[in-house]
Amino acid sequence: MLFRFFFSFMILICAQNNLQAQMPVIQFLDSGRQCSLRGLSVVSDDIIWASGSKGTVARSTNGGASFEWITVAGYEDREFRDIQAFDSNKAVIMAIASPGIILKTRDGGKSWYKVFEDTTSGMFLDAMDFDEAGINGLVAGDPLPNDSRIYFAMTQNQGESWHNVTGNSTMFKTVEGEAMFASSGTNLAFPSAVVTGGKASRIFYNGIFTLPIMQGTESTGANSIAISPDGRNAVVVGGDFSNDKLNTNNCVLIQLKRRPVFGIPSTPPHGYRSCVIYTAKNDLVTCGSSGTDISTDGGRNWQNISTASFHVCDKARKGKVVFLAGTRGRIAKVVMP
Ligand SMILES: *[C@@H]1O[C@H](CO)[C@@H](O)[C@H](O)[C@H]1NC(C)=O
Ligand SMILES: *[C@@H]1O[C@H](CO)[C@@H](O)[C@H](O)[C@H]1NC(C)=O
Ligand SMILES: *[C@@H]1O[C@H](CO)[C@@H](O)[C@H](O)[C@H]1NC(C)=O
Repeated sequence: MLFRFFFSFMILICAQNNLQAQMPVIQFLDSGRQCSLRGLSVVSDDIIWASGSKGTVARSTNGGASFEWITVAGYEDREFRDIQAFDSNKAVIMAIASPGIILKTRDGGKSWYKVFEDTTSGMFLDAMDFDEAGINGLVAGDPLPNDSRIYFAMTQNQGESWHNVTGNSTMFKTVEGEAMFASSGTNLAFPSAVVTGGKASRIFYNGIFTLPIMQGTESTGANSIAISPDGRNAVVVGGDFSNDKLNTNNCVLIQLKRRPVFGIPSTPPHGYRSCVIYTAKNDLVTCGSSGTDISTDGGRNWQNISTASFHVCDKARKGKVVFLAGTRGRIAKVVMP
């Protein structure tokens, strides 16, 4: 009898251990820098770049075992809210405003040169995104004060030069109080999708459609869009950054048909989220200031794996490891069981 009890007890323990072993956990890699990281670009499981406030760039070439921290000379007060890295030496970083600037390095971050500057008053850049080859890219910015169109500039040479293509974006007319959040550099999906927030939260994709997500105030709306590897679906996350534990109307599931079809999750992420990425056909990770969630069913159900604050997550297109970055210079990775 005692033996039988002991035996069942052991099975119970093993079952519980198995359950826990299935849940990914977050492993902290580096932190403690006095800056907020919102740009993250994972080139491979070994090469990781991050960017943020106080002119900061971080780079690792050993899978995050160690990071080299760089303060870009002459830009110590700037917020580099987005970064796109092409390899261990080449990357572009985007400074949001007054003026909007993009810098490039070809020597692993030792030196940077200006590849884009727009001094138009009111210029505010939100995000960059590139094609798979890292050659063609777009940067999107908020509508300028006397304009209602989303600002776009384009590059066709890996960010060496950019030109204003706003004139071609009559499809990108916003309403009063509608703009984009520069929270993770992921509200633009090259070449054809942008999500907005504020007074209105909409997706610009084959037209303009209102998203079934929180909106109406300055802190609400969509923050990030991820497109599935097969290009058929997308997931959008957001919510209210000033009330970051609210876990309703913070995620939209989209079938990318000619006219997009919208759905919402059965179990939404556990709060406001600023970034979402696909890690496989039906697997996703989303993070925000109130925690990180994962989904294994295309975004229908989300499970929180941590309540630690992160602004941005990323995985290399051909890599396996998901990295996260955020407040207080924090960089981490998701360790799968
Ligand atoms: C609009 O696109 C055309 C070609 O598609 C290009 O020649 C033209 O320069 C673009 N206009 C602007 C303002 O970028
Ligand atoms: C970009 O181009 C458009 C169309 O030519 C123009 O209306 C707009 O003023 C330009 N924006 C800037 C910031 O140069
Ligand atoms: C999930 O979120 C709840 C609060 O919503 C929290 O109590 C719990 O600790 C979280 N789980 C993990 C693994 O962080």
